[in-house]
Amino acid sequence: MHFRRLNEVDLAGKRVFIRADLNVPQDDALRITDDTRIRASLPAIEHCLGAGAAVMITSHLGRPKEGVVRPEDSLAPVAERIGHLLGRPVPLVQDWVDGGFEVHPGEVVLLENCRCNVGEKADDAGLAKRMAALCDVYVNDAFGTAHRAEATTHALALHAAVACAGPLMAAELDALGRALGSPRRPLVAIVGGAKVSTKVSILQALAERVDQLIVGGGIANTFLLAAGLPIGRSLAEREMTDQARAVLDAMSARGAAVPIPVDVVCAKEFSAGAEPTTKPVEEVAEDDLILDIGPRTAASLAALLGQAGTIVWNGPVGVFEFDAFANGTRTLAEAIAQSDAWSIAGGGDTVAAISRFGVAERIDYISTGGGAFLEFLEGRTLPAVAALMKRA
Ligand code: 3PG
Ligand code: MG
Repeated sequence: MHFRRLNEVDLAGKRVFIRADLNVPQDDALRITDDTRIRASLPAIEHCLGAGAAVMITSHLGRPKEGVVRPEDSLAPVAERIGHLLGRPVPLVQDWVDGGFEVHPGEVVLLENCRCNVGEKADDAGLAKRMAALCDVYVNDAFGTAHRAEATTHALALHAAVACAGPLMAAELDALGRALGSPRRPLVAIVGGAKVSTKVSILQALAERVDQLIVGGGIANTFLLAAGLPIGRSLAEREMTDQARAVLDAMSARGAAVPIPVDVVCAKEFSAGAEPTTKPVEEVAEDDLILDIGPRTAASLAALLGQAGTIVWNGPVGVFEFDAFANGTRTLAEAIAQSDAWSIAGGGDTVAAISRFGVAERIDYISTGGGAFLEFLEGRTLPAVAALMKRA
């Protein structure tokens, strides 16, 4: 992947337009409940200010209708939080596409939710050209939105005078490239979560390159079915067993492996208070729900992670939100933390598990991307990255 980086561009006195991903979760009163993405976007902003640029930042927030800005669409809470973190006021500019606002070198403004502009989602070239006229340099630092071809993530990169990747975008691409491009072996991937169908192309792509593929959650149940094992009433996708078997075959043809659980933790109902029973995987009863991997499986996977050179983690291996079924995911999280392997993790559930088990400091790279992280794992070229590469 070759693209121009922000630190290679002369910014003094330039008008710089930063597309960030400030799409943060909010509560009913629109208070920000997690500002990780805002904090991750600060280095680009600080770099541009320090270099003497006039800085404009924008982002989408949610999935609004184009043409209006409802109160819940507004980046106002984000402007306030950036201002607080930078220690200076950050004015929020409305109706900004055709200019009519001022920002001087050394100043920063936030441009209201770019997804409210007509033409944004359609990647409209006319809209992109108007936005290109606002700036001398376009910076895409929005890795979390890099899988979307929208006017601020794609067309603008093609039409701006100069287009480059910000430090967050570059760090994400470097980390993912390191994990999948030239990994230290063995390369172990963990893919958990509910559904095979949403992750089948990721599993197929990873089956071509990883040494061990650990599956968890509903995905693992589908693999148990494919291996001819009983799963009772567990969440699984019976129509996906052929695909699961194809992944098993592709892996074994390469001398690689998908470790199948030897024991599991079951319950008769899906609830936090359900009675957990640990049993060998062959003994799963007709009325059982598999809600976690068992301790023998967890220990052997932990040992495997201890031997890994590189670990890519997306998705929990059990219902970790319920204490009785959290052991498998906790054991793997701690094993990743302790491993000498270089580790990368991403996706909403995964980041929640990482913070729940307190291992964030010991994971080498935690992606800010959800869908973008998954699409990269699928081996797809992200449209925003493709546009930056075209300009390099
Ligand atoms: C995300 O939250 O994954 C990104 O900000 C992308 O948001 P989107 O799925 O609404 O495009
Ligand atoms: Mg929202």
